[in-house]
Amino acid sequence: MPPRPRVKVHVTGAIPSRVSESLALTFELVDRPGEAEGILTLVTTHVDDTYLEACGAQLRMIANYGVGVDNIDVEAAKRREITVTNTPDVLTKATAEFAVALMLSLLRRVTEGDRLIRRGDKWEFALEFMLGESLEGKTVAIIGAGRIGHEVGRLVEPFGARPIYVRRRDPLDQVLGAADIVTLHCPLIAATHHLIDADALDCMTSSAVLINTARGPIVDEAALVRALRTGSIAGAALDVYEFEPQVAEELLSLENVVLSPHLGSATRSTREAMGMSAVESLKQVLIDGRAPTTRVL
Ligand code: DGY
Repeated sequence: MPPRPRVKVHVTGAIPSRVSESLALTFELVDRPGEAEGILTLVTTHVDDTYLEACGAQLRMIANYGVGVDNIDVEAAKRREITVTNTPDVLTKATAEFAVALMLSLLRRVTEGDRLIRRGDKWEFALEFMLGESLEGKTVAIIGAGRIGHEVGRLVEPFGARPIYVRRRDPLDQVLGAADIVTLHCPLIAATHHLIDADALDCMTSSAVLINTARGPIVDEAALVRALRTGSIAGAALDVYEFEPQVAEELLSLENVVLSPHLGSATRSTREAMGMSAVESLKQVLIDGRAPTTRVL
């Protein structure tokens, strides 16, 4: 008997070799989505109705290599009975840790000091030189009380900071006014697009800072630039951008800003675990024909 043809899977970008090796043990990897029953999408692949139409009726599943699924029109996938999965849990610790790293870098002026030294500026130890702020005693407003948000809260507590969790329907104004640090951990959906706009930034105090490791468009970047320039907030640390990978030119020259290139989940073990989770989901749906553990819709 000829061997049964293997289920075809298309991968939309480069993935760790351990993950592609694991994928290739079960699936036939194909170069184009047009013949695939499953697609492993990077979060930079935009999957809308047109993309799904072009894929063809044989497509049964999209496994997103990430927890955020704002790159996928999940309603359009649902209409076509295409299962969508993501990779939660395995990246919680890495992403929360990175948010705290950004907080500390910003408060203690780590990247600002690094720039000063690399520029060759003249400096010497002095008691009033480049003073920063400690996390101790700070109120941290965690917008998005999911897994990552809670992990951030857990991590800042031993520093003596006080986390306040903000859930989807909680009013923002008061909490923004009370926070020393506002850190974003909600998904990007219609209701959170520009959640942090000029009005929200106005609610923050002039000594407060904003941390974004969630998704760029949650923040109105132009309004943020204005708030930073006028000093209506004290600083920002951003891992994600409204028009990623473009970064607003004005942010580059501001000293009170820490910028990183979407590195929240970027450790080897986390990225591999995310990939393995996606492979598992593809197997659950396309091979075992059962409901995936990490189904989005
Ligand atoms: C995610 O998982 O959504 C991150 O942004 C990429 O790891």
